[in-house]
Amino acid sequence: MSTTISSIFDLESLAKKRLPEVIFDYVHGGAEQQITLQRNVRDLQALALRQHDMRDVSDPRLSTTMAGEPARIPLAIGPTGLAGLTWPNGECEEARAAAEFGVPYCLSTMSICSIEDVAQACEKPFWFQLYLMKKREVNEHLIRRARDAQCPALVLTLDLHVQGKRWADAKNGLSVPPKLTLHNMLDIGTHPGWLLSMARSRRRTFGNLEQEVQQAPSVTALSEWVESQFDPSFDLDTVKWVRRLWDRKLILKGIMHPDDARLAVDVGADAIIVSNHGGRQLDGAPSSISVLPAIADAVQDRIEVLFDGGIRTGSDIVKALGRGAHACLSGRACLYGLAAEGKEGVLCALNIFEQEMKDCMALVGIRDLCSIDRGVVTAQPAI
Ligand code: FNR
Repeated sequence: MSTTISSIFDLESLAKKRLPEVIFDYVHGGAEQQITLQRNVRDLQALALRQHDMRDVSDPRLSTTMAGEPARIPLAIGPTGLAGLTWPNGECEEARAAAEFGVPYCLSTMSICSIEDVAQACEKPFWFQLYLMKKREVNEHLIRRARDAQCPALVLTLDLHVQGKRWADAKNGLSVPPKLTLHNMLDIGTHPGWLLSMARSRRRTFGNLEQEVQQAPSVTALSEWVESQFDPSFDLDTVKWVRRLWDRKLILKGIMHPDDARLAVDVGADAIIVSNHGGRQLDGAPSSISVLPAIADAVQDRIEVLFDGGIRTGSDIVKALGRGAHACLSGRACLYGLAAEGKEGVLCALNIFEQEMKDCMALVGIRDLCSIDRGVVTAQPAI
């Protein structure tokens, strides 16, 4: 990489430069007024870390497991739909970066590369994220495909009964592929690097779903079908149904209340992800970091508590662990890396997180993840 990259924010700037506006806004934005998106980032920033000196902090140990998978740092790459619009064969590149670095990777139902593409591109097992579709056979088939691809964990996303409204996407005519309005043609035309690179993409639409909808006569019809498929009747019985179909690790994503976390324990989930979908669904929801301690307290050690929403620095990960998370997932940060420089950009993001975590832990005065307890983080500076 030619530019010096010091932080995730540098990767964000590079992504903004390289991507057409319609794609960058899709990655960067949140629902409606983006109140929850901003809360996620601000509430993490507002937490203070307690500094302790006069301790030996050499040889920090950051490795752990997440839902049974080894993780070099307590972070997985979370599911992000349409990552393959930011970089050719983007999901395969992200999976390769995750495997090379040594953290879990989760493929979205709404990816451009298919489950089989990623399994072929990368030997290391990856997680598959499932959006429940109204058509039950589609869900059954996706689950079967994930099993055949040896995915060790299924991440069932709970918070998509309807799709959150992202105003910029509607204005920009975001669709798969983007609508060819005059504005978009100018936008895409002024980003020739992105346009030329995308010629190397193996696929142009939802890789996991195109074979599920044989009757879709065109890519636009497929997009419309996908939008019509989010299931508002998705309830606890649906989760139990998925639990019966999937006998490996089941991770429930989108838990924002202690009561729902207790239900996750009751249905036999292996882990939960405390998440508001990165502020892309219910605008006005609290930040995910603000609800994390109560959720962690509600389930104690009966289930693994994972966290996402607003992670932009290694110290954000330390703060989330200090608030009760076992480990975190990253959405946008790794996607900025992918959009900036493909696999190398994702590796860069992961290396930044690792180094920042090490620095943060050293200055806080700890060298083990298990020492990151509630005492490490404080809302108000306190002695
Ligand atoms: C997402 N997210 C998401 N979640 C999911 O379960 N399935 C999906 O397909 C997507 N797609 C998606 C696309 C994009 C562009 C973004 C930014 C996010 C939500 C994602 O998994 C995660 O919950 C948030 O991104 C976490 O917040 P941060 O790390 O982006 O602040």
